Amino acid sequence: MKKFFSSIQLLLLGTAQAASQWQNVRLGGGGGFVPGIVFHPKTAGVVYARTDIGGLYRLNAADDSWTAVTDAITDDAGWHNWGVDAVALDPQDDAKVYAAFGLYTNDWDPSNGQIGRSADRGATWQFADLPFKVGGNMPGRGMGERLAVDPANPDILYFGARSGKGLWKSTDGGASFAKIDSFTAVGTYAPQPGDTTGLNSDIQGLTFVTFDSTSATLDGATSRIFVGTADNSTASLYMSEDAGATWSALKDQPGKFFPHKGKLSPAEKALYISYADGTGPYDGTNGAVYRYDIAAGAFKDITPSIGEAINFGFGGLALDAQKPGTVVVASLNSWWPDARLFRSTDSGATWSQLWEWADYPEMNLRYKQNVDKAPWIGPGFLDIDTKDLGWMIEALEIDPHDSDHWLYGTGLTLYGGHDLTKWDAGSWDEKLTISSLADGIEETSVQDVASVPGGTELLAATGDVGGFTFADAAALGTAPKVNWMNPQWTTNVGVDYAGAAVKSVVRIGNSAGTKQIALSSDGGATWREHPGADTSANGGTVALGADGKVVVWSAASGSVLRSQDEGAFSKVASLSSGAIVASDKQNGSVFYGGSGSSFYVSKDAGSSFGATGKLGSATAVRDIAAHPAKAGDVWVSTDAGVFHSTDYGATFTQTSTTLTNTFQVALGVGKDKESWNIYAFGHVAAGPRLYGSGDSGATWTDIQGDTQGFGSIDGGTKLAGSGNVAGLVSQSSSLIDYFGNNKASTADDNVGARDYYIVDEHHHV
Ligand SMILES: *[C@@H]1O[C@H](CO)[C@@H](O)[C@H](O)[C@H]1NC(C)=O
Ligand SMILES: *[C@@H]1O[C@H](CO)[C@@H](O)[C@H](O)[C@H]1NC(C)=O
Repeated sequence: MKKFFSSIQLLLLGTAQAASQWQNVRLGGGGGFVPGIVFHPKTAGVVYARTDIGGLYRLNAADDSWTAVTDAITDDAGWHNWGVDAVALDPQDDAKVYAAFGLYTNDWDPSNGQIGRSADRGATWQFADLPFKVGGNMPGRGMGERLAVDPANPDILYFGARSGKGLWKSTDGGASFAKIDSFTAVGTYAPQPGDTTGLNSDIQGLTFVTFDSTSATLDGATSRIFVGTADNSTASLYMSEDAGATWSALKDQPGKFFPHKGKLSPAEKALYISYADGTGPYDGTNGAVYRYDIAAGAFKDITPSIGEAINFGFGGLALDAQKPGTVVVASLNSWWPDARLFRSTDSGATWSQLWEWADYPEMNLRYKQNVDKAPWIGPGFLDIDTKDLGWMIEALEIDPHDSDHWLYGTGLTLYGGHDLTKWDAGSWDEKLTISSLADGIEETSVQDVASVPGGTELLAATGDVGGFTFADAAALGTAPKVNWMNPQWTTNVGVDYAGAAVKSVVRIGNSAGTKQIALSSDGGATWREHPGADTSANGGTVALGADGKVVVWSAASGSVLRSQDEGAFSKVASLSSGAIVASDKQNGSVFYGGSGSSFYVSKDAGSSFGATGKLGSATAVRDIAAHPAKAGDVWVSTDAGVFHSTDYGATFTQTSTTLTNTFQVALGVGKDKESWNIYAFGHVAAGPRLYGSGDSGATWTDIQGDTQGFGSIDGGTKLAGSGNVAGLVSQSSSLIDYFGNNKASTADDNVGARDYYIVDEHHHV
C-alpha cells in the first residue's frame, strides 16, 4: 500500500530590517494525504484543507491555489502543529477557523493536543490546551470532522477525542474545553490492539460531531447533535436532543461498520452516513451508505451497487446544498482498478458511477483528467498505475455555493473541478474534468536536500513521491514535470553530488529487497541504476567523492559500503555501521565520517577511515558539511556545537558557543561567490532556531524570522545552503521513520542585505 505524506518551501529574507519571509518550493500537488476539507456554509470561497503532517491550508478561490495558514505556528522542537486531526468553521463568522492540533497519541509526539482558534482566517492563532493527545497522523484521521461549532451559538464547540477521552465541549468560543460526562461512549475500536508502537493500538475514539441546524434551540444552543464513534460491536451513532445534556444511541442503526462521515442535509432533514469496516486511511474491504430520516427516526440503506460484491468501504461523502438530495460518495480505498465514485440526485435511491466496466477490461469513463498544476503526477503516478482517481478518499465536498465546484482529497493530492454537474448528462461522451487542485499544499516528506555550486540548484529526496530536481533558482517556483524516475522508488532518503564534477549525483532509497542506489550524469535530470547495486543495502546516508568516481554509502541496513568506478560495493571495515558519511568536495581522495563522539577521515578514497582530531566535549557527531570550494575545509555539527577544520579534520576549532547544541549544518554561497555562509539548526534559550554566520562561525545570527517554523529542527530536519544564489538556504525536516513531515525550504535574501548586516555588524569576510 502506498502511503503519502507530505513539503518543500522558498524563503525570501528581506533586508536587515525586514522579517524573513518564506515560500514553498513549488511541487504544485500536495504530495501527501489530504484527510479533510471544509467549506464555509454561508460565505462562498472560504475553504480549508487539513493535512496529516503538513498543517492547514486556506483556499484562494480566484485561482484554485492554497495558502498555508499554520507554518508560523509550527513548533520547531516538536513538529506538533503539522498534524491537524479536525477543522471547523463558525457558520456565523466566516473569519473564524478552529483546528485540532497534534501528530500522534503515542509517544512519537511528546505533547498534548490543542484546539487552535483563529479569528482572522488563520493569520494568527490562540490555543486551548487539551489534557490528552491529538492524532493528526494517526489511523482514522480521515474520519470526521471531529470538531464542530454550534450554528446557533458560536461560543459552543464540541470535540470528539481519541484514546478513550470522550466528548469535550467549549462554551467560551474554544478558549477552554471540558469533558461531557453524560456522553459515555468512547469509540473502543483499535485497528491492531497488539501494536507495541502504540500507533495502531490506540482506540480510535469519536469520529464526527454534526449539529442539526434545523432543530430547535435550547437556551440559545442547537438542541439536536449527532456524534459518531469508532465502535462496531455496540453502537456508533449517538444523538442528543437537549443540547448535549443527555445522549442515546440511535435506534435500529446499522452498527456493523464504522461511520466515517455524518453529514446533514438540512432541506431534507436527513443525515447521510458513510461506513467502512476499517477506520482508514489505508483499509476498508466492505462498507455501506445510509440515510437517516430525522423526523421519521428511520435509517435507509442506500449503498450504491456495482453489480457484484463490493470490496471497499465508503469514506468521502458530499452533499450538494444547492440541490438537496444530490449526493456523491467515494470508496475509501478501492485499490484496483481505481477508486469508485457514485452520484445520486434522488437522495440515494439510484446512483450513477464515475466509471463503469464496458467490455472488460475496457472502462467507460465519465471524466477526463488534468494534472497541469502538478505535471509530475502524470508520469510518476497516472501513467504507471491503474488508479487515476486516487485512494484514501475521505475528504469529499461539493461547494455549497456552486454545484459544479467540488474537491476531494486522496493519499497523493487533492483533485476536483468546476463542472461536476456534467456527470448528470447521462452520456459517456460528456466528460467532466477532474484536475489536480492542490497547488500551494506542500506536505511532502522531504528526506534530504542538496544544492550544487555551479550545478543543480536543488535536489530534494522525498518520501512517498520519490524526489525532485530543480535545475536553477527560477525552477523553484514551477511544479516539476517529473519526479525521480528510472529507477523510481517510493522514498529516497539521501542525495549527494561530486563537488568537482558537478553533473555527477547519487541518490539512495530505503525499500528493502530491491536495488536502492542510482546515479545521474546530468545533475539529476535523468538517472540510472548504479551498476554495482545489489538488493541487500538500503537507507542511511550517501557520499559521492569530489571526482564522482567513488561512492561511500552508510546503509541503514548494515555496513558502510564503498564502490569505485561504478563497480560492486564492498564493506568498509574501519567505519562502524550507522556512521554519518560525507565527501570532501574538492579532493576526490578524501571522505569524512562521524560516529559517536569521533570524527573519521579517509585519505584513500573511502577504502579505510581513521579517527582524527577531537571535537571538544562533544559526545555525538550529528552532521558533517564539507566546504563546497575548499579542499580539507570541513564543518562538524555536534551536541556541543559546530566545529571547523581547515586541515582535513586533523585539528578543529569550535565556532562561537552561542550555539552549543546543533543539528544539521550547511554551507551556502555568500553575498559574492568568494564568501560562504554557514547555516545550522541550533538551540539557544529561545529554543531551536535556524542560525546563519557570515564570518565562519565567529558569530551566529538567528535568521529564521517569525513566520516560519521548521517542525523538527532537532529531529532530523535537513538543511542545505544554496550553491548558487546568495543567501539562499534550503531546509527540510524529518520525523520518526517514514511518518516524517518535512518542509524543505529555501531562503533568499534577495540582494544580500542580510549578509551585509552580518558582515557590517561583525567581521568582514
Ligand atoms: C469490527 O471491525 C473489525 C475490523 O473490520 C473486525 O475485525 C471485527 O470483527 C468487527 N467486529 C464486529 C463485532 O463486527
Ligand atoms: C588530496 O588528499 C590527499 C590525501 O590527503 C593528498 O595526498 C593530496 O595531496 C590532496 N590533493 C590535493 C590536490 O590537495
